[in-house]
Amino acid sequence: MKGKIEFQIMFEKRILCIGAGYVGGPTMAMIAYKCPQHRVTCADINPERIAAWESGELPIYEPGLEEIVGATRGRNLFFSTDIPSCIRDNDIIFVSVNTPTKNFGIGRGEAADLQYWEKTARQILQYAVSSKIIIEKSTFPIKTALAMERILTGQTEDIHFEVLSNPEFLSEGTAINDLANPDRVLIGSRETEAGFRARDVLVDIYANWVPKEKILTTNIWSSELSKLVSNAFLAQRISSINAISAFCEKTDADVAEVARAVGMDNRIGSRFLNAGIGFGGSCFKKDILNLVYLCRHYGLEEVASYWESVVKMNEYQKERFIRNMLNTMFNTLSGKRICLFGFAFKPNTGDTRETPALDIARKLLAERAEVVITDPKALPNARLDLAGAEGNLFYEENPYKAAEGSHAIAVMTEWDLYRNLDYEKIFRGMVKPAFIFDGRNIIDRPKCHEIGFNVFSIGKPPLTHYE
Ligand code: NAD
Ligand code: UGA
Repeated sequence: MKGKIEFQIMFEKRILCIGAGYVGGPTMAMIAYKCPQHRVTCADINPERIAAWESGELPIYEPGLEEIVGATRGRNLFFSTDIPSCIRDNDIIFVSVNTPTKNFGIGRGEAADLQYWEKTARQILQYAVSSKIIIEKSTFPIKTALAMERILTGQTEDIHFEVLSNPEFLSEGTAINDLANPDRVLIGSRETEAGFRARDVLVDIYANWVPKEKILTTNIWSSELSKLVSNAFLAQRISSINAISAFCEKTDADVAEVARAVGMDNRIGSRFLNAGIGFGGSCFKKDILNLVYLCRHYGLEEVASYWESVVKMNEYQKERFIRNMLNTMFNTLSGKRICLFGFAFKPNTGDTRETPALDIARKLLAERAEVVITDPKALPNARLDLAGAEGNLFYEENPYKAAEGSHAIAVMTEWDLYRNLDYEKIFRGMVKPAFIFDGRNIIDRPKCHEIGFNVFSIGKPPLTHYE
């Protein structure tokens, strides 16, 4: 009892996040770091994940994360698997559980699978003994808040649950900087007195480190939809430049030069115009497919197929990449050793969800190539992703050893490491003619060509040593 009184005196607010993944963990660590006056708990049903958050070896790799977790863990940041008591003890509850694409039943392959979210809402209802603010942190389909309200309201007279939408815009690999210096924080609320009150509580938390003009408040549906639209727009830019990369390859234009020329127009802007083998990551595809599903649900077939084409273009880019490898390497990859430089869906993360490298590896194995995968952070996940895959598959952390004896290198992830390797040394150890297929346009093309490689990049004229 004495402990409980001290605990209430020490901290102004008690904040919980249900779901301690790529979003829940770093976001709560940042709130704890910037708000020492609040007590923050991150809870998850996965005991291994929670044990890892509590250990020296965090469950996810994110530059700068160890430092802020180290500074806050045990001070005002705590981890737990005891979800019922966490719900009882906290007044502000973020929900950051996974919302993958549904892989069964109606909406299979498109709609969001909301089972984890609904289970969480029902648990909140079951264990809460006082009023709470519930914050949607996961990316949800528009109108999820309405469903959440329906589950939570009307069951107990003295307890009120106010639902807010506060989508997360962080990118993996730069999560800590994105959280510390966000372009904006978006908070959607019901336009009622209770809604505004709850919204202001959340605004006050972020205002500890985010300038007020960057905290955007909207109605709850605009907030939910803005998250899907942001990801759709970002992915659309990548598919647009990738479409142009195919055109460049037919016409000897250079996609990087085109992107630079186009991006210098302030109205267009230069970011997210890097052509490559396609976007990966757990969210772009899932969120666009969800948008497509919702458009169809509302009878907007033309709008649905417009957004669907962004995903189709992404698939086409991977297909094109493999076809190009096959055509270039004399129409057979069978028995050839191909080294994949990188497996993570982007650099500075070990995350491999929806990584294009997985598709490429599978397609190469289907061609009966021997595949060697190297990556500084993602090999454990690569092993899980490809467990049970048939064929000759090897993993090697050292890129020099990985490339030894290969017929070709295919760059899958834009890790800085691969920009600065000793390609002369690599070339010496490879089977000739040696090929590089640069799926991320990061290597020094003229230099590698001079060394002796046949260099194929996305959206650029090939540099070869034959006619
Ligand atoms: P994740 O899979 O890494 O984490 C989700 C966690 O929720 C898991 O650890 C899981 O065990 C836990 N969980 C599931 N059901 C639970 C329950 N009933 N009770 C307690 N814990 C439960 O997913 P993530 O990458 O953190 O994404 C979470 C959400 O955030 C998704 O909706 C995603 O679209 C969105 N998002 C992700 C990113 C990103 O960069 N990964 C960025 C912005 C938004
Ligand atoms: C993306 C968004 O950028 C975040 O704002 C959003 O919060 C997040 O999704 C989410 O909702 O999960 P993330 O997937 O972590 O973040 O990484 P990005 O930097 O967006 O890269 C996604 C993919 O696009 C990567 O495979 C990357 O290699 C590729 N990409 C990116 C390109 O091919 N070209 C580019 O110009 C940029």
